[in-house]
Amino acid sequence: MGSTTYADANALLAEILGIGVDTERGGYSRPVFSPAEMELRAWFKARAEERGLTVETDGNGIIWAWWEAERPQDAGRRRDVIVTGSHLDSVPGGGNFDGPLGVASALAAVDVLRDRGVTPVRPLAVAVFPEEEGSRFGIACLGSRLLAGVVDPDQVRALVDDAGHSFADASSAAGLDPALIGPDPARLADIAAFVELHVEQGRGLVDLAQPVALAGAIIAHGRWHVRIEGRGDHAGATRMADRQDPVVVAAETIRSLREQTLAVDDARGTVGRVKVTPGGTNVIASSVDLWMDVRHRDGNAVRRIVDVVTTMTDKAADAEGCSVTVVEQSFSPTVEFDASLRDRLQAVLPAAPVLDTGAGHDAGVLADIIPTGMLFVRNPTGASHTPAETAESDDVSAGVEALADVLQDLLTR
Ligand code: GLV
Ligand code: MN
Ligand code: MN
Ligand code: MN
Repeated sequence: MGSTTYADANALLAEILGIGVDTERGGYSRPVFSPAEMELRAWFKARAEERGLTVETDGNGIIWAWWEAERPQDAGRRRDVIVTGSHLDSVPGGGNFDGPLGVASALAAVDVLRDRGVTPVRPLAVAVFPEEEGSRFGIACLGSRLLAGVVDPDQVRALVDDAGHSFADASSAAGLDPALIGPDPARLADIAAFVELHVEQGRGLVDLAQPVALAGAIIAHGRWHVRIEGRGDHAGATRMADRQDPVVVAAETIRSLREQTLAVDDARGTVGRVKVTPGGTNVIASSVDLWMDVRHRDGNAVRRIVDVVTTMTDKAADAEGCSVTVVEQSFSPTVEFDASLRDRLQAVLPAAPVLDTGAGHDAGVLADIIPTGMLFVRNPTGASHTPAETAESDDVSAGVEALADVLQDLLTR
């Protein structure tokens, strides 16, 4: 079936501006399987089907929209599929580009290739991955990790969100069968290359005055859930000496993380989420949950920082009469993207600089298994995971052209 529609990525992004608007935080909150993300998934399917792409949702909730090769594939031929795409879920209060830009650009690139009269000799799939941000269930890139078999499906089914809903229940409510999540080596074995386009989440392209870059590496990163338990009590009636206040211990964790990351060149340490229970102004808390996000190019440096902060937290907890548990939710070593694929992309896009990134991506998970590359599109503010994240419409169009150029090369040679 031929193309029935032609829209640029800017127009596609404009269509979803009203979905998942967060009036409290600003920006967008589109957690996986929320009404907003489900609306985006439906939007994607409709836009893909309009283009005559065949849409399928796999057992892990990854949507695949297929543009089949116009030449019959050799029987039994493997490693012949080219995949592009990104994610539609967002962090709380995020922008409209982190994720959707790669999805919209992929659809627009199909339009461009058809407009150019390109005849692919191998299939293209546009993929949409669920829970890239890990904003709802804690583990980033959950869809690609399930696909790759690097997380335990039983553990994933049991993950719970802030409202107490399990992944199993949330995915069932989204129309998926949680019994089907897990590794899919056969699907991966069919993929020759994955190229994800993403808005840049820093100022690299602004500094270089270029619209589009190729990815070099993703720095190592991980998440740790720290739970500190103390003793709830009255803020006025409890003498200071008698307190077992987990908030005091949490403050030490946060201070120590700042100190340790500052001591290591170019390390990043963040506590962006703290839950104080029960959370009353005149109540000494009974427990604190906080989440540490730590990143560095050297994965061992990440582990050393976390070890020191954990030791400092334990000490502070002893002094306060509190107890601490630290659970590693995820750890992703440094990813160097496939050099030969990058050389091939660079030959197509000779002006594109190569940039490393401190942000995680499904491409980073899949890079362990299949040749993977990324394109970044300039973000004038350099900010991301905030409503300030943006991209100029000319740069979005340049990104689509670049993606189309790369896909044309991969699909026809
Ligand atoms: C996701 O965008 C991350 O890098 O945490
Ligand atoms: Mn992203
Ligand atoms: Mn993100
Ligand atoms: Mn990301």
